[in-house]
Amino acid sequence: MTRRISAFLRVFGSLWRKNFEACASYDVTGSPCFKNSLNPDKMKYRKAGKSSLELSEIGFGCMSLRPGDVEATAVIHHAIEKGINFFDTADLYDKGENELLVGKALAGKRKQVILATKVGNQWRPDGSGWDWNPRKEYILASIDRSLERLQTDYIDLYQLHGGTINDPIDETIEALELLKQQGKIRFYGISSIRPNVIDEYVRRSSIVTVMMQYGLLDRRPEERCTQLLKENGIGVLARGALAKGLLVDKQEEPFLSYDRNDVKAAADAVKKVSGKSRTPAQTAIQFVLSNEAVTSAVVGIRTMQQLNDVVDVSESAPLDADKLKMLRSAVDQNFYAEHR
Ligand SMILES: NC(=O)c1ccc[n+]([C@@H]2O[C@H](COP(=O)([O-])OP(=O)(O)OC[C@H]3O[C@@H](n4cnc5c(N)ncnc54)[C@H](OP(=O)(O)O)[C@@H]3O)[C@@H](O)[C@H]2O)c1
Repeated sequence: MTRRISAFLRVFGSLWRKNFEACASYDVTGSPCFKNSLNPDKMKYRKAGKSSLELSEIGFGCMSLRPGDVEATAVIHHAIEKGINFFDTADLYDKGENELLVGKALAGKRKQVILATKVGNQWRPDGSGWDWNPRKEYILASIDRSLERLQTDYIDLYQLHGGTINDPIDETIEALELLKQQGKIRFYGISSIRPNVIDEYVRRSSIVTVMMQYGLLDRRPEERCTQLLKENGIGVLARGALAKGLLVDKQEEPFLSYDRNDVKAAADAVKKVSGKSRTPAQTAIQFVLSNEAVTSAVVGIRTMQQLNDVVDVSESAPLDADKLKMLRSAVDQNFYAEHR
């Protein structure tokens, strides 16, 4: 009997250790934080380029959550339970209210998640709109406001929220590097759909990610950006995999250079390829994840139903070559027309 108990304890101990090692990563203070201990076998995680950040294949884009939305906190908590560990917000969204909402929902769960926010869009004092501001002084002041709203003392991934080729790029990089030295951020990246700006940051900075719109209805990054980023150990955070729901259940309407008919053709292909193996939303996300440059598909989840529709994507069958071909041939590839 005693021998049985000690054998059980040995096996249990080794399984627990294995699970701990698989799930633990380390925060800036050096203490372990859990990738996700509740559902590690179901969600898959990918490293963001050369960084040590391991992001769930599906990220939670928080922009669609609205201040005062009673369901928002429950949706975020359920996402964490289901293995989503990556949350993306920005100081721009709802004039900082989105960061406040996310900070409140993540209180007590901070170490379970990888938190990303963005900087560079400065609201005008009269609230009439915002102006682009990539200056060092502005970035150094903005981080403290984001930290306070997010109820944390570090950001895992701080992203420049746009950028132009005429920016004082070295000054911006200097600010982001300084924040890293100060321990206020762990890594930084940019959010950009301008190939010429992406080129400069790849060449001059230590970005670990580029967030960009990428999906069946926006394959512009495939021309050269995704390959360039992969070669340089920089992860792609793909936003817009669902094209705002047009690839799933929304009434077709023009999207980028595509007209209604194109959008319908893409949505029909997604439906056909899905069959019984995946929900259409999962198919649209699997399409994005089939590109090895992609670290995470950042989906703008707003409701519990939308979360449940996508969250088991890692368990759904990946798309084979024939299915990818069917999806690709549904609409012509588009290309960046500007900022090349
Ligand atoms: N420049 C930037 O850095 C930038 C720009 C845009 C977005 N982002 C980030 O990327 C995230 C995603 O971007 P996005 O919101 O533009 O793209 P998206 O994920 O394609 O669109 C989000 C919208 O899709 C609908 N949706 C979500 N889940 C669905 C589902 N399962 N079935 C059907 N429809 C669904 C919702 O529409 P309804 O609300 O109508 O239900 C939601 O508001 C944002 O939350 C944000 O974090 C960054």
